[in-house]
Amino acid sequence: MNIAIFASGGGSNADTIIQHFKHIKNISVRLVVTNNPKAGVLRVADFHQVPFEIITKSMLYDSSDVLSLMKQYEIDFIALAGFLWWVPDNILNEYQGSIVNIHPSLLPKYGGKGMYGHHIHEAVHRSKDTYTGLTIHHVTEEYDAGQIIVQVKCPVYASDTPQDIGRRVLAFEHAVYPRTIQFLIEDRNP
Ligand code: GRF
Repeated sequence: MNIAIFASGGGSNADTIIQHFKHIKNISVRLVVTNNPKAGVLRVADFHQVPFEIITKSMLYDSSDVLSLMKQYEIDFIALAGFLWWVPDNILNEYQGSIVNIHPSLLPKYGGKGMYGHHIHEAVHRSKDTYTGLTIHHVTEEYDAGQIIVQVKCPVYASDTPQDIGRRVLAFEHAVYPRTIQFLIEDRNP
């Protein structure tokens, strides 16, 4: 089974996913896809010698180029990890049930357009929530609204800055996302 990771940023989740599957028989990360030629995730892919592809908006939305890439690399499962563009229907239809995203809040709280990265943790901080967490969910045409697969709660302490909250959530993401992807793939392909 081959995984593609779609990411737009630093790629710390991509890093933990790639490392995790180095030790798992029959499943590997075959491709990293990004829309951002400067994304840190490209260094991550390079370091682990995972092939990567840089895509443009027109490749994703005006053609079937990205779907063709998925075929070319024989991709079975797509994990979004900080990918900032919405995923078009041609890919969603082909990968129904096999395309997931991770979001650094307890959806439906702090979800939707514009709610990403530090915006989320700042909002949690402002609301004085005593806990936050992460959500792994199926991807649909609506932002952050697909069926929830896993949620992990973690505490927010009164002394936390938004950065502290972000760091804690990200550490939980690294612990949970690779194992959840493995579980989903094995669950669907017993
Ligand atoms: C993570 O917080 C993830 O939940 C969100 O984007 C961030 C990506 O971080 N969707 P990284 O690029 O994996 O470090």
